[in-house]
Formats: sequence, structure tokens, C-alpha cells
Amino acid sequence: MINIAVDGYAGSGKGELCRGLAKKLNLKHLDTGAILRAMGLYFARLNIEEFTQDIIDKYIKTFEVKVEFEGDKQITLLNRQDVSKEIRTEKMGAMASKVARYPEAMERMTAISRTFAENYDCIIDGRNITSEVLPNADVKFFLDAKIECRANRRLQDDYRRGVETTYDEVLASLQKRDYSDTHREFSKMVLTHDSILVDNTDMTIPQTIEHCYNLAVEKLKELGKL
Ligand code: DC
Repeated sequence: MINIAVDGYAGSGKGELCRGLAKKLNLKHLDTGAILRAMGLYFARLNIEEFTQDIIDKYIKTFEVKVEFEGDKQITLLNRQDVSKEIRTEKMGAMASKVARYPEAMERMTAISRTFAENYDCIIDGRNITSEVLPNADVKFFLDAKIECRANRRLQDDYRRGVETTYDEVLASLQKRDYSDTHREFSKMVLTHDSILVDNTDMTIPQTIEHCYNLAVEKLKELGKL
């Protein structure tokens, strides 16, 4: 099996990198943020926006999140309903970041991800994939870009989707998420010693994909997997 793990900040281009590498290397791509976003959506629908351990304990077993694939496309299901589009807002990203503070949520995401990695040549992205979910991945990337650049990318994404927001709102949300994702008690995002750090502030997406592709091929050949 080939397993590639990718972690990185919100808006660092993980999704596009993974889709690009998946295509070039014939891998399946799993987006673990989507799993946590679907959990966030469940709580948002209950009008719960702030969490406590009691709330998590009460609700964590009352919903089901699953992923399915239509060709290369990940379909994220919340209680069997396709929520793939609905979860793609900055608000659901922020909800996911809050849910991710709780080990009970992360355990469910980890179980789905590990089963996936056992069954497919794959690339998986998130915040704790290189460190916790797939510590033995063949290749590990940690993606970063300056926050102003990431905010602009997110703003453009929102604009394309017809979501009305401002640069300042997106920037503030990313700052909060960066802090929360790197300072929480469990499963926080860390740069592991064996991850390749890629800062793509001054790179286009195709350049980022090409750069990481060359590094991945080199590593996979070394391991005799290509
Ligand atoms: O990658 P994303 O923007 O879809 O992730 C949404 C949030 O989910 C992110 O701010 C932190 C959390 N997350 C996480 O903690 N661990 C993961 N493996 C994936 C996402």
C-alpha cells in the first residue's frame, strides 16, 4: 500500500495538493476535515455552537458520519444525507475546529481514516494525519503559507461559491482556527521530524503539486513502492 499524509493550516492548499497528487499517482484522496465539518454541521443544526464535554458525551453517539466515493469525488454523509456542499463554508470549518478539541470526535475520524488507509493506496489530509492518524505514512507533507495569502484564497473560494463574506472576517476566522488547531490539549497540529515542510506562499497550486510530486516520487522509489 502507498499512504501519503498531509497536514497544514486552513487555506494552505491541502485539498488542491491532494487532488493533484492523487491524480498523478493514482491514489484515492480522503479529506478528514470534511468528516469533522459534518460533525460540526450536526451540532450547528441543533443550534449548539459552543461545546462542553457534557454536550459531546450526550450527542456523540446520536449521529453517523460516513464517506463514500463517486469516482474520485468524496461524498460526505451525515445520517445518510449528502452534506458535501453544505459543509464547505468557513463557519463549518470553525465548527469542525471546535469539535476537533474532543478526543471522542477525533477517534471516530481516525477510525474511518485508518480503515481507508488499510484498503487503498491513498493520500489523506487534515491536521494530525502525519503525527497521529498515519504515523507510519510513506511520505509526509506539512503545508504552510502566510496567513494573508490563505485568507485571500479562502475569500476567493467563498466568492466562487456565492458565500458573502469579507477579508477581515475570513482573516479573523483563520487566526482563531490556527490558534485552536495548534494549541488544543489533544491531537494538535505539529510539524513532525519526518514531514517535508512546504511553504507555498509564493507558489501557484500547479507549482506546489509539481514540487510535492517530485519529492513523493523520490521517496516512494527509495521505498521500492514505485
Ligand atoms: O481542513 P479543513 O479546513 O476542512 O478542517 C476544518 C477543521 O477541522 C480545522 O480547522 C481543524 C479540524 N481538523 C482537525 O483538527 N484534524 C483533522 N485531521 C482535520 C481537520
